[in-house]
Amino acid sequence: MALGGMFRKAAAISLHLVGLLQRKKAGASVNRCLHQTLTMAKQVQARRLDGIGQNLWLEFAELASKNDVVNLGQGFPNFPPPDFVLEAFQHAISGDFMLNQYTMGFGYPPLTNILASFFGKLLGQEIDPLKNVLVTVGAYGALFTAFQALVDEGDEVILIEPFFDCYKPMTLMAGGRPVFVSLKPTPTQDGELDSSNNWRLDPEELASKFTSRTKALVLNTPNNPLGKVFSRAELELLASLCQQHDVVCIADEVYQWLVYDGHQHVSIASLPGMWERTLTIGSAGKAFSVTGWKVGWVLGPDRLMRYLHIVHQNSVYHCPTQTQAAVAQCFQREQLHFGQPSSYFVQFPLSLRTNREHMIRSLQSVGLKPIVPQGSYFLITDISHFKSKMPDLPGAVDEPYDRRFVKWMIRNKGLVAIPVSYMCSVPHQKHFDNYIRFCFVKDESTLQVMDKKLQEWKDELEA
Ligand SMILES: Cc1ncc(COP(=O)(O)O)c(C=O)c1O
Repeated sequence: MALGGMFRKAAAISLHLVGLLQRKKAGASVNRCLHQTLTMAKQVQARRLDGIGQNLWLEFAELASKNDVVNLGQGFPNFPPPDFVLEAFQHAISGDFMLNQYTMGFGYPPLTNILASFFGKLLGQEIDPLKNVLVTVGAYGALFTAFQALVDEGDEVILIEPFFDCYKPMTLMAGGRPVFVSLKPTPTQDGELDSSNNWRLDPEELASKFTSRTKALVLNTPNNPLGKVFSRAELELLASLCQQHDVVCIADEVYQWLVYDGHQHVSIASLPGMWERTLTIGSAGKAFSVTGWKVGWVLGPDRLMRYLHIVHQNSVYHCPTQTQAAVAQCFQREQLHFGQPSSYFVQFPLSLRTNREHMIRSLQSVGLKPIVPQGSYFLITDISHFKSKMPDLPGAVDEPYDRRFVKWMIRNKGLVAIPVSYMCSVPHQKHFDNYIRFCFVKDESTLQVMDKKLQEWKDELEA
């Protein structure tokens, strides 16, 4: 509604209210009238929520809860964290009673200190725990703080599709304009398994997305949902474009320890000239298999971090002390074991690789075509074979095929996955509605239930 119209309507409503009050009706009914009239007059939600709908997880979680399913949708382990992690938490809750109180707003000092020394070595930087580190409510909190601190009304933010779904609403809520560029698959030989490695950005298209309004680029490596680990050459291209156009890189590296087959995770902040323009985001939830702890962090140069500190100070202010203490202890342990077979960051990807292989084999048995991920604990599979065999699955006319397929799969096959079209821009949904995402950070018994359901599916196909 135009502003003038809004004022006229507000004035009419006030007159209406005055009239009502003057009539001195019984208090309760006047209150009811007041309430009803006000509800009709004002828009409830803030404008920053325009165009932001409800989260898809809610819809799929509800559907899953009504069916007998094995949930391979959301990204969290359904097995216990390692003993040293649980012990760290027990120590935090039963040790120093002062851990029940507030600590430093930007992070519990033993945690900011160990993050600074641990990541300082990896990034080749002298990291000041007071200036270059912020502990947040999970990586979600880190992302939100970064967007609020840096993205202004009308700023453009480049998002690489398919992407972790919150990047788009976070850009919009900050007043920014998301600009999308897609990873595209290169064709494989017949019968060859596709790999997330084969999904690349077109350098010319990528360069064309940078304008004088571009404020930030969000880079997620290893990427969710594809499991792509960006190579050094790819990162160098992104880095040179960020430098050329004076753009900040928001590097979401929550899956940095989960890389397979000898692939290496490279932090873009470690490339020449990039520390000064990069925010590196991590998550203890993903690193130590404790997603419920919600401890995340951002590392970056003072010139950027000072603004994130301001947002944090005036919103969350402070994250729970005990979980920070527990994460600090986990990192101290990892620092002692770094790079050795005893390190969790070495062991965990090795065990997850077995899950990945298991899931790939099982999905293939019914004609799903997994795209082998080099990192993360997700894989996407190609469902185009089903799209041609069963094009008319129930659903709204304009509903992307992958969403209809997942709903059908939940109801009829008892398997929950996530539609990938949800993780890209609306105009590009048609390029991604041939894919669904599975999560393989699940225990042996879950994978066995998956096998059983897939075997039943296979038997039906062969009948
Ligand atoms: C790419 C990516 N970034 C950030 C997060 C959020 O991490 P946290 O649970 O630490 O908030 C997730 C969670 O799934 C993720 O996949």
